[in-house]
Amino acid sequence: MAVNFDIECTNAGYQPHHGHWVLRGIHLTAAPRERIAVLGPNGAGKTSLLHMLVGIKPIHEGQIRVGGVDVSQDSHIASIRQSVGLIFQEPDDQLFCATVYEDVAFGPRQMGLSETVVDARVRSTLDAVGMADQACSVSHHLSSGQKRRASLATVLVMQPKILLLDEPTNDLDPRGRRMLERILLDCPQTLLIATHDLEFVLRVCQRAILLDQGRLITDGPASQILSDARLMDEHGLEVPGSLRERHWPVSSGE
Ligand SMILES: Nc1ncnc2c1ncn2[C@@H]1O[C@H](COP(=O)(O)OP(=O)(O)OP(=O)(O)O)[C@@H](O)[C@H]1O
Ligand SMILES: [Mg+2]
Repeated sequence: MAVNFDIECTNAGYQPHHGHWVLRGIHLTAAPRERIAVLGPNGAGKTSLLHMLVGIKPIHEGQIRVGGVDVSQDSHIASIRQSVGLIFQEPDDQLFCATVYEDVAFGPRQMGLSETVVDARVRSTLDAVGMADQACSVSHHLSSGQKRRASLATVLVMQPKILLLDEPTNDLDPRGRRMLERILLDCPQTLLIATHDLEFVLRVCQRAILLDQGRLITDGPASQILSDARLMDEHGLEVPGSLRERHWPVSSGE
């Protein structure tokens, strides 16, 4: 039976200013409701890939289809942005209104929802990310972790079909990470999560892709990739502590 993929990259490449290829030869498919981690060292191309999927960065080679729609056609960008939510690596890129409430309400209002529906959605989303008490706070005066929670809310409130999350656990305290973990495990969306938080990957993602120097190195079960010490070392990463402990139990002293 044919699968209708939510994300389909075929030989996709991005080469800004005709210089070096930031990404090249990327083949990737994501089926509905898959939760996929995007791994790789700094500068590997993770953020660039997420930005290509929503048309922020252009496609210079190959093709990308998101939700069945060709991203390279400008006329499709508006519909893609309705079905795809991107949580930026920097929360300051996501928060631009006077208050947290206004920031979270901005997207639903753009969708033309009634003020009653907007209010209900904003309040339940702020509650879900632990920010109900901060609705009237000035977004730019929040702490880093609070900004992260607010930026998550601005996207979750839209209930997009596909969620792209760029370093979503940065600045979150342990309770915040557990909250995000629960939200993502419960949510019906297809998820692509760029992150260096490998313990989080083990808990949330079934699958991972590994990028390095703009190339897709491997694509497979997250636990298998993360436990491959040689692969991880070759690409500037480390096997997460919980998997190391499993393979190298602490000596009991016998
Ligand atoms: N418009 C651009 N012009 C030139 N170089 C760019 C452009 N956009 C991205 N790059 C380069 O592409 C590389 C990949 O950047 P990207 O932000 O995608 O990496 P990343 O994997 O997200 O890294 P990090 O883990 O640090 O967030 C970097 O070397 C960056 O400088
Ligand atoms: Mg990045």
